Amino acid sequence: MIIVSLSEKLEIEKRISITPEIVKKYTELGFEVKLEKNYGSHLGYSQNEFKDNGAKFEDDEKKLLEEANIIIQMGLLDDNKTKMLKSDQIYVGVLNPYDNQNKLKELAQKKINLFSLDLLPRITRAQSMDVLSSQANLAGYKAVVESFSTFEKAIPMMMTAAGTVPAAKVLVVGAGVAGLQAIATAKRMGAIVFATDVRMASKEQVESLGGKFLTVDGAENLETEGGYAKEASEDFKKKQEELLAETLKKIDIVICTALIPGKKAPLIIKENMINEMKSGSIIYDLAASQGGNSAYTEVDKIIEKNRIKIMGDKNILNKLPISSSNLYAKNVFNFVSNLYDKKSKKININLEDEIIVKTKVS
Ligand code: NAI
Repeated sequence: MIIVSLSEKLEIEKRISITPEIVKKYTELGFEVKLEKNYGSHLGYSQNEFKDNGAKFEDDEKKLLEEANIIIQMGLLDDNKTKMLKSDQIYVGVLNPYDNQNKLKELAQKKINLFSLDLLPRITRAQSMDVLSSQANLAGYKAVVESFSTFEKAIPMMMTAAGTVPAAKVLVVGAGVAGLQAIATAKRMGAIVFATDVRMASKEQVESLGGKFLTVDGAENLETEGGYAKEASEDFKKKQEELLAETLKKIDIVICTALIPGKKAPLIIKENMINEMKSGSIIYDLAASQGGNSAYTEVDKIIEKNRIKIMGDKNILNKLPISSSNLYAKNVFNFVSNLYDKKSKKININLEDEIIVKTKVS
């Protein structure tokens, strides 16, 4: 069985799907790993590091794709490459089926076995494969670091002979994986942290990290069976707006992480709320590439309104490519191991396995 990974377009994606450490694991399982020339060199990995663990390199993308039994990428390759894929090949990545519906349909019709890791069920057995969690966790951390370094005041309270520097106040909107890591990171750096979410289950998690949970008056629990958020009612949105408008007047930094799977991100921080915020405040919008939780958000830009900065990256993980590649590569390895039958040494697409059924795009 040959596993192939091609280099990503570096101007868009700096993460890689197979690290030298993971080549070793695939080789030990009995796979052969073939990578495109210079794979991972932008992250400081030399070809020898990969080769020492058993990988081979190849210049010709077409040849690589032809030979592959399994192709592992961050997302969907460009059309000129996906059209080289053949039936029965396995393709694993975060394929974003909501946005790529038509392309994926075409590939599925060609009988390519597509597995989209953003569809993994949130069950205990799938935790080691959960790319959404591993990447969101790092994104939450990095959003805090980015916003704190842009903030023109200190974060922790400091008592000095010249006077006291007050602790910065942070609001985290959306307390899922990214939000909880943002709370933990902001607390560790000495901020006073507030958070809100439409899922009441997150209240206890926020409080266990030392954050203060802001409950919307008369909150209904907007949680699906799978643990995700449902779209809020107009009444809820109005009450949330009132609560946040008041809170934001005393907040220095807002970290937005609110998402609803398969939908545009909800707009939560409106223009009128931003107008009332303190001069020098920062909004870091992690939902920027899904439309943004804040007014004025533009991907990869810092927008300034009355000395309030609104910022958000298209892909914040490009600023942490080594850590995020390490976790992603491990997640995918665990997923591929689950597809592999160690006794027969063959791939077994077991349609009775919830992990396989839910991630398979067909
Ligand atoms: P996500 O990235 O889809 O959304 C982020 C957060 O935004 C969620 O907490 C959501 O409730 C919140 N949100 C949505 N609309 C909002 C609004 N209008 N106002 C305020 N907040 C809003 O979610 P994520 O982070 O991927 O995880 C969601 C759930 O999945 C959580 O319950 C988490 O504990 C669970 N989970 C379970 C795992 C498992 O293996 N058992 C693994 C990872 C997450």
